[in-house]
Amino acid sequence: MVDESGSPEPLLEPPEAEEENLFNKKTVRDIDINNKRVLVRVDFNVPLSQGRVEDDTRIRAALPTINYLRRHQAKVILVTHLGRPKGRIDDRLRLDAVAERLSEMLDSPVIKLDKTVTDEVTAAVSRMLPGDVILLENVRFNPGELTNDPVFARKLADLADVFVNDAFGTSHRAHASVVGVANYLPAVSGFLLEAEITHLTKIIQAPRRPFLAILGGNKISDKIGVIERFLDNVDSILTGGGMCFTFLKAKGLSIGKSLVEIEQLETAKNILKKAEEKGVSFYIPSDIIVAEEISGETESKAVTVDKIPDGWMGLDIGPRTIDVYRQVITRAKTIFWNGPMGVFEIKNFAQGTIQISEAIAKQTQRGALSIVGGGDSDAALKKFGLEDEVSFVSTGGGASLRVLEGLALPGMEALADKF
Ligand code: 3PG
Repeated sequence: MVDESGSPEPLLEPPEAEEENLFNKKTVRDIDINNKRVLVRVDFNVPLSQGRVEDDTRIRAALPTINYLRRHQAKVILVTHLGRPKGRIDDRLRLDAVAERLSEMLDSPVIKLDKTVTDEVTAAVSRMLPGDVILLENVRFNPGELTNDPVFARKLADLADVFVNDAFGTSHRAHASVVGVANYLPAVSGFLLEAEITHLTKIIQAPRRPFLAILGGNKISDKIGVIERFLDNVDSILTGGGMCFTFLKAKGLSIGKSLVEIEQLETAKNILKKAEEKGVSFYIPSDIIVAEEISGETESKAVTVDKIPDGWMGLDIGPRTIDVYRQVITRAKTIFWNGPMGVFEIKNFAQGTIQISEAIAKQTQRGALSIVGGGDSDAALKKFGLEDEVSFVSTGGGASLRVLEGLALPGMEALADKF
């Protein structure tokens, strides 16, 4: 391969052979599903716009499990949440558009029910034939879902013979349809949950080095656990997005009216100190794109981080920072990326995220393992047409960070062990 400057770049050595199975739960492959009623918890918490599904990534990600179950003559009963209706019916969060999209993707009708657990639902399930697919109504319309009410979980379980959890993105929630239902049915994993856990575990247990974490997005507070864990595990961390201003302020710099979490300043100082003690190269931007407001119309300019004018705010990493970050990426063999580098939805503030995602894609081509987690980074990859250029895109933001923190996912713990 030849880079833009014309100099030959050596390919990284080929990835090592697959590690032994990193997933110790039974899956749909390990259980008899022929002619069985199979309740599948999926995460179809997808963005809707004008009554249509705007991004069907999460639906697509569940298709391998759904297709497998149908091919093996199961009766597939899908259950998901959409949004946060807090136990009350909210007509804007009904699942009709999701059912329509799923039906297009399966090229087969999906029976959408307007309830989750009523006699009508039981009757509809009893009429199912092998290969049929039912989608229950938004499970969070029921107050018992969030409280993991055993009575509600039991009612859900009564609809089926087998429970499959394929809702990776929701598996950090101990809710009735994720955890409670597994008390009453043989409970196994779907293929998405298996793939997500395998990829994420691989990078924390056996990363090829250098291992690089790229962290952006608005808040440090969302990521403290994972940053602390990374300080024991990664070789370098690159920071960008709104969260880097809390680090810059912690270093005593004046950040204008950039986003900051004042209550996290001490934490930020501690993280910087620990990184130094542990020998982790912790990068914060040296220059920033600033503007007076978040708008595509307003003037923007690059300034070094010690020159952020009062009344201006940082909205992207600057060109010098991009150069340094690209060089670090070029050396990495394992890359985890969560969170954009700037307000990439607006052209003037998109360069950091564009260049970083392109560098990750290029390094993936050269043999690095790259994993992207979190809805915003995923959206950025799609916007720049790079979603197929990384090794794996996780469908779960909170859930993937939790796995990387080394914490158990309740929705996975509830499933039967393989050994
Ligand atoms: C997500 O979008 O992260 C999952 O679907 C979980 O949703 P929640 O944060 O509302 O539980």
